[in-house]
Amino acid sequence: MSMIALIGGTGLGQIEGLRISDQKLIETPYGDPSSVLSFGELNGQKVVFIARHGDPHKIPPHLINYRANMGALKQVGVNRIIAVNAVGGIHKALGPAELSIPDQIIDYTYGRDHTIFDGTTYESTTTDSLDHIDFTHPYDEELRLALIAAAESESIVVLKTGTYGATQGPRLESSAEVQRLKADGCDLIGMTGMPEAALAKEMGMKYASISLSVNWAAGISDTIITMDDIGLAIDQGMGKVLSIINAYVASAI
Ligand code: HPA
Repeated sequence: MSMIALIGGTGLGQIEGLRISDQKLIETPYGDPSSVLSFGELNGQKVVFIARHGDPHKIPPHLINYRANMGALKQVGVNRIIAVNAVGGIHKALGPAELSIPDQIIDYTYGRDHTIFDGTTYESTTTDSLDHIDFTHPYDEELRLALIAAAESESIVVLKTGTYGATQGPRLESSAEVQRLKADGCDLIGMTGMPEAALAKEMGMKYASISLSVNWAAGISDTIITMDDIGLAIDQGMGKVLSIINAYVASAI
């Protein structure tokens, strides 16, 4: 069995158009996932949806049980994951409501349960208890290109590459921190990209992100960041995210 998973982030607690046929709370060796898994059909394809921050939205980025979320998806037969991430934009093309399909990651998070290879063998994993995965290309290139093609088919502009800086949160950054991230090569900043991407690789699932800029990163514009402005950018941009997902799912085999 193979299935497409959608991970909804801030601003995407459910998928419009997803005809839900079943909801299950999956138990994993790592604990409980953020939400039930919603199984359904989108454009004729079987998909499963999970709300990363819980439903209702209440789990902050640093307290999400990423291992349980990814373990639950693995357990139900997911092989491809489209993650939706709200981010702050550093790259000039990533103003509010603009999109990136990132191709690289720098991980600045800490203290998160970030690996299944922690020296303990879990019954439900088919892998050894210790491994060092290759992470040269953190996102699946085939899936990334398919998402870019889906965007193009809908005439939606996306930045086709981008380095995602994963920060700890939940606070936003200082402008000096953003300058450091920029100097490091980050184009966008978010709090949920890691360890999710690495866990997908450890568990053998293809993973790519549609990252929606919901604000200019701190200090990139003259104004401070407000939740109202973030809400506005989500309203303006999330429709494009859903269109890409719909187009991808319709063409996926
Ligand atoms: N920084 C980090 N994470 C974010 C931001 C940001 O500016 N906006 C949305 N998620």
